[in-house]
Amino acid sequence: MNTVGIQRISLYTAPYYLDMDDFAAARGEDPEKFHVGLGQDDMSVLPPDEDIVTLAANAADPILREFDPKSITAVLFATESGIDQSKSAGAFVHGLLGLSNRCRVVELKHACYAGTAALQMAANMVRVNASEKVLVIASDVARYELGSPGEATQGCGAVAMLVTNQADILALETGTGYYTEDVMDFWRPNYRDTALVDGKYSTMVYLTALKHAWQSLIESRNLNYQDFARFCYHLPFGKMAVKAHGRLMKIAGLEANDDELTHVMGASLIYNRTVGNSYSASLYFGLTSLLETDTNNLANQRIGLFSYGSGCVGEFFTGIVGKDYQSHLYQASHHRLLASREKLSFSRYLSFYKQFGEVERSDNIELPVYTKGRFRLSAIRAHKRQYADQQRPR
Ligand code: CAA
Repeated sequence: MNTVGIQRISLYTAPYYLDMDDFAAARGEDPEKFHVGLGQDDMSVLPPDEDIVTLAANAADPILREFDPKSITAVLFATESGIDQSKSAGAFVHGLLGLSNRCRVVELKHACYAGTAALQMAANMVRVNASEKVLVIASDVARYELGSPGEATQGCGAVAMLVTNQADILALETGTGYYTEDVMDFWRPNYRDTALVDGKYSTMVYLTALKHAWQSLIESRNLNYQDFARFCYHLPFGKMAVKAHGRLMKIAGLEANDDELTHVMGASLIYNRTVGNSYSASLYFGLTSLLETDTNNLANQRIGLFSYGSGCVGEFFTGIVGKDYQSHLYQASHHRLLASREKLSFSRYLSFYKQFGEVERSDNIELPVYTKGRFRLSAIRAHKRQYADQQRPR
């Protein structure tokens, strides 16, 4: 039996959010465009003293309270919103979490797909050497120009997954379906801290990649729609996944209907509705949401997961839920985290947004405390980012 896969999954998002009603009022839009049209109620907003490193370290923290940090053999860090052209964000996380020097660290990039590339690489590392304990982290801050159509689909968050040969949460099956095409649907040149996007085109390319990745999966594995209990999708906004599943059912020769959509993917959308886009982490926010909010016991059931990264790569893969998965989830602390976030006024959101840009362009800056997370970005001194552990006595 394949037992390689996700042993633990932990997520973290910023402790601040913007309500889409307030966003709609400020931008002169009908709130229903966001609640219904995009499937979003809120979006997490990053405070100035957090970045992809602190999001990642805060996400991984619960796993390393349960497992010896010195037992981690590799950190695979996936992100679209890198903070350095050279040093891996994973190296900062390695230091903050007190991991062993006998550990490898690397950062991976392909827009929102890199988290899945990291997960598959980690699983293969474990298949080759069963003693590997790989920490896969997907961490991102989704940022678009103020006033652009993309602004409503921002958000931030990180998901940390421990990948070992004891897949308590999800055993990864071998054999996946994938698709790559060189397109310009969403990109971010080095001189920008916000993404450029051809929005409508990006949604079409997403669906094209889905179709090909699905067909490649079912042909190579001899699977069909009925072999799946639930589906999770990359979540730039919830409605994208709903459209994707409708398209997939059509390709499978079935008629999409609301009951089926709610049954097979509704629970996977719940966390994203309030967090917003977290790029490489969003599929795994969806998986965590599914496992922690679906009212049925999904033990031993097959989940289909579609990962999409603009540019573009799509991969459809599958996993079998662990028989005792519910006792290994961090469900209560995730619910507390989401419920305890502070609502921002629109003007404070703008202030955080602008400060993010200032921090990105600074070589010397001290940052006051905003976050309630354990790890924070405290300063940049002489071009070097300084992080603080708020639980470590100074
Ligand atoms: N009540 C209900 N629904 C309403 C409404 C109202 N009052 N007003 C509008 N809507 C609906 C529209 O009909 C539309 O639904 P359909 O797509 O089903 O027709 C939906 O709300 C959105 O409205 P618009 O198309 O008018 O919205 P927009 O032009 O402002 O932009 C967007 C939408 C293109 C997705 C834009 O938000 C965007 O560019 N987002 C960033 C790009 C993105 O997320 N792409 C996804 C694929 S790429 C990817 O997945 C990678 C990644 O993470 C970025």
